[in-house]
Amino acid sequence: MAVDEIFDDAFFASIYDLFNEWDAWDDFYLDMALEIGGDVLDLGCGTGRLACRMAAEGLNVTGADPAAGMLRVARSRTGNERVTWVQSDGQSLRLAERFDFVYMTGHAFQTMLTDAEAVALLTAVAAHLKPHGRFVFDTRNPAAKAWLDWTPDGPRAVVDGGDRGRIEEINDTAADPATGIVEIIHRYRFLDTGAERVGHSRIRFIDRDHLAGLVDQAGLTPVVWYGDSDRSPYTPDSPEIVAVLRRRD
Ligand SMILES: C[S@@+](CC[C@H](N)C(=O)[O-])C[C@H]1O[C@@H](n2cnc3c(N)ncnc32)[C@H](O)[C@@H]1O
Repeated sequence: MAVDEIFDDAFFASIYDLFNEWDAWDDFYLDMALEIGGDVLDLGCGTGRLACRMAAEGLNVTGADPAAGMLRVARSRTGNERVTWVQSDGQSLRLAERFDFVYMTGHAFQTMLTDAEAVALLTAVAAHLKPHGRFVFDTRNPAAKAWLDWTPDGPRAVVDGGDRGRIEEINDTAADPATGIVEIIHRYRFLDTGAERVGHSRIRFIDRDHLAGLVDQAGLTPVVWYGDSDRSPYTPDSPEIVAVLRRRD
């Protein structure tokens, strides 16, 4: 399965953390990992910031991601040697180890563009869970239509890119209501030189009932559905769908 250039390409991966700072989601997953403890799998670990933090807290952490660019950043991070890194997508993951806690954060689950991909990933995760293990991930509620804010007229982030000067990110999107797939155009402007890099990615939005059907097909069952990183209960108006799952057997 091809990975979006925005994660695979060394340049885009090198600026990912500048635009994605530690936030409430990192606290959500860190707190949950510390509550559950034991062996942890960060699926779609990206640049590895959260995986390294969990390992620094004493957890036994594996980080898996299909993107070479993101993993390169992860492997160069301070403390990265405490984490076992694996280059793999979730669907084809076949590790010998079984985990107490598997999580997928940063809406990485939305990179599954079809039901078949999503079920393959959920099935692979089920096979990597210990009997009492938990799989937790977040996906944006399509009802909230978050993509409508990702426009050139929307909020623009500007970061300090060090040697590269100030970098501005401008997003634009094209949504396909038939599939739920939103194509995102990521435009990075180097404000001090006038240079520009443009990358593309695609994510899919599915609603809670649709997702619950895929979870069931994969042999998993919900423990609870949250509606945001504050562990508020899921409602149809929630901005997020947060699945806390266990194996059905
Ligand atoms: C938005 S980033 C999130 C990264 C990290 N979890 C975070 O929160 O910073 C999405 C990540 O999902 C990864 N990804 C894409 N397709 C995947 C798949 N099929 N299985 C697992 N991870 C995947 C990407 O390479 C990327 O690192």
